[in-house]
Amino acid sequence: MLRPATLSLLSILILYISWRVTFPETFQQCLIKHSDLTHPISEAIYTPQNPSHSSVLQSYIRNLRFNTSSTRKPDLILAALHHSHVQAAILCGKKHALLMKIRSGGHDYEGTSYVSSVPFFLLDMFNLRSIDIDIKSESAWVESGATLGELLYGISEKSKTLGFPVGVCPTVGVGGHLTAGGYGNMMRKYGLSVDNVIDAKFVDAKGRVLDRKSMGEDLFWAIKGGGAASFAVVLAYKIKLVHVPEIVTVFQVERTLEQNATEIVYAWQHVSHKLHEDLFIRLVLDVINRSQTSEKTKTLRASFVSLFLGDSERLLSIMNQNFPELGLTQSDCIEMSWIQSVVYWSTYFPLGTPAEVLLHRKPPKLTSLKRKSDYVKEPISKDGLEGIWKKMIELEKPYLIFNPYGGKMAEIPATEIPFPHRAGNLWKIQYVTNWNEEGIDAANHYLDLTRKLYNYMTPFVSKNPRQAFLNYRDLDLGINSHNEKTGYMEGRGYGIKYFRDNFDRLVQIKTKVDPGNFFRNEQSIPVLHQLNQVE
Ligand SMILES: Cc1cc2nc3c(=O)[nH]c(=O)nc-3n(C[C@H](O)[C@H](O)[C@H](O)COP(=O)(O)OP(=O)(O)OC[C@H]3O[C@@H](n4cnc5c(N)ncnc54)[C@H](O)[C@@H]3O)c2cc1C
Ligand SMILES: *[C@@H]1O[C@H](CO)[C@@H](O)[C@H](O)[C@H]1NC(C)=O
Ligand SMILES: *[C@@H]1O[C@H](CO)[C@@H](O)[C@H](O)[C@H]1NC(C)=O
Ligand SMILES: *[C@@H]1O[C@H](CO)[C@@H](O)[C@H](O)[C@H]1NC(C)=O
Repeated sequence: MLRPATLSLLSILILYISWRVTFPETFQQCLIKHSDLTHPISEAIYTPQNPSHSSVLQSYIRNLRFNTSSTRKPDLILAALHHSHVQAAILCGKKHALLMKIRSGGHDYEGTSYVSSVPFFLLDMFNLRSIDIDIKSESAWVESGATLGELLYGISEKSKTLGFPVGVCPTVGVGGHLTAGGYGNMMRKYGLSVDNVIDAKFVDAKGRVLDRKSMGEDLFWAIKGGGAASFAVVLAYKIKLVHVPEIVTVFQVERTLEQNATEIVYAWQHVSHKLHEDLFIRLVLDVINRSQTSEKTKTLRASFVSLFLGDSERLLSIMNQNFPELGLTQSDCIEMSWIQSVVYWSTYFPLGTPAEVLLHRKPPKLTSLKRKSDYVKEPISKDGLEGIWKKMIELEKPYLIFNPYGGKMAEIPATEIPFPHRAGNLWKIQYVTNWNEEGIDAANHYLDLTRKLYNYMTPFVSKNPRQAFLNYRDLDLGINSHNEKTGYMEGRGYGIKYFRDNFDRLVQIKTKVDPGNFFRNEQSIPVLHQLNQVE
């Protein structure tokens, strides 16, 4: 029998050897050799011996579920300061057969940009965040490490009537958001963020910097919604700005079950996707105490949160004609500039907070979280809704956000980009569970509650496949082992949920541009090895 002390010495030795094997010093030397001498790469390298290693890692962790001592840490962080550093990371990562994770804003719900079950190094993009806006051509180049808030604020500084359709959380990174779709409260008018991307610069598996012309239309198609992390490292996107009115109107109206929520939600289901495309009404459903005095009895609250691209008079006339059940009044409506509506929608800040708050790179509050997604193709009956309320009240914690589609979303063909959820999808469901308790038991408890609600919803949502949204990363849909024999079928499992019939085109492009599968993560596009052999 070995004694515990000998055992732990032994395991330290094994750990050390395996670290040396996977992360040889020659990797660092390779990085130095392959980068541009006028931009010293050594300043961008953080090994675990560097006292800043953990603070750099933690500064873009946005799900505290992955901020634990048992979460595997990267063996090296390269916080690229120059394009040549990204090129070096790819060339040397390939040479040394290391797994590279790519992080821009770190908002991936499953942490796939900075968490791994096997040794890896992290390519961090937060230093590359310049934004170059050209009002004359109504376009902009924006680097991956910029946040949505920085981008929108930058646009508003130059024009009060130009904007860009993105998600509603200003700290989200441009890098991950735009490559997986990116939706927000202007999607019914302008589509997804990625529907408005007109060019991109990235570094491919051969370490080349390419743009739309040199990468070709196939690859440009793939990174617009297919998740660039399977194909390349995106340095920057060129986007087409969109027109916004000088005055927009927002409202948030809440109704509980006692205030006819069921009737109103039932009506919302039939109109929300057909309304004028200037009008977006999100529905948030959560469980609250019935009153402050009777904390034991719960009720369901339906919150209708809206952005209207116009003034309150036109909004009220549209609402009275199409959705009188909500009973919207003038006093519910708040008129403001478009950039103020961005601040309002971010929900973190009180009304009237100056737009500069959009420049804060860190959200005011972080929690542990789990998200899942679904698509609804037919309105749910009143009985169906009542069953859902009962289940939600029983589970209490997980809540639902319904985001209506229609408008521009239904006009764009399902094959235009890899994101396939277009005509026929009435709204998307987001399952939301946040918690503050630490530890694996709490995490398992809340994951279980979220999955229970998702299972309950099965009869009401899309099937064969049950569709999902890539920006709402959900590892319950499957994880790829990247084994040559099983990788394709494993990838197909989650791939058809995220991409439907576009999955196979993504696989073909992947197999052509990255046959060695250097760009991989838990849910990347797999290589089809047979296809490779045929060619
Ligand atoms: C609080 C919060 C609110 C959100 N709100 C919305 C919303 O309103 N609408 C919406 O659509 N989504 C929303 N999301 C989801 C968000 O869009 C996605 O998580 C998005 O991928 C985050 O981008 P990121 O750069 O911050 O994330 P990261 O975690 O850095 O990256 C996400 C994925 O993209 C890859 N990636 C990142 N950068 C690059 C790059 N430069 N090149 C290649 N691959 C890259 C990563 O490897 C990872 O797989 C929200 C998320 C959070 C946490
Ligand atoms: C993440 O964990 C570290 C180490 O335990 C801790 O110091 C830090 O405050 C945590 N981050 C957040 C945002 O809670
Ligand atoms: C609920 O609806 C009924 C019938 O449509 C109506 O009489 C009642 O006033 C409504 N209640 C509230 C609180 O709006
Ligand atoms: C509801 O009541 C419980 C106590 O039973 C309390 O812990 C909780 O914070 C209350 N929730 C809200 C939203 O007020």
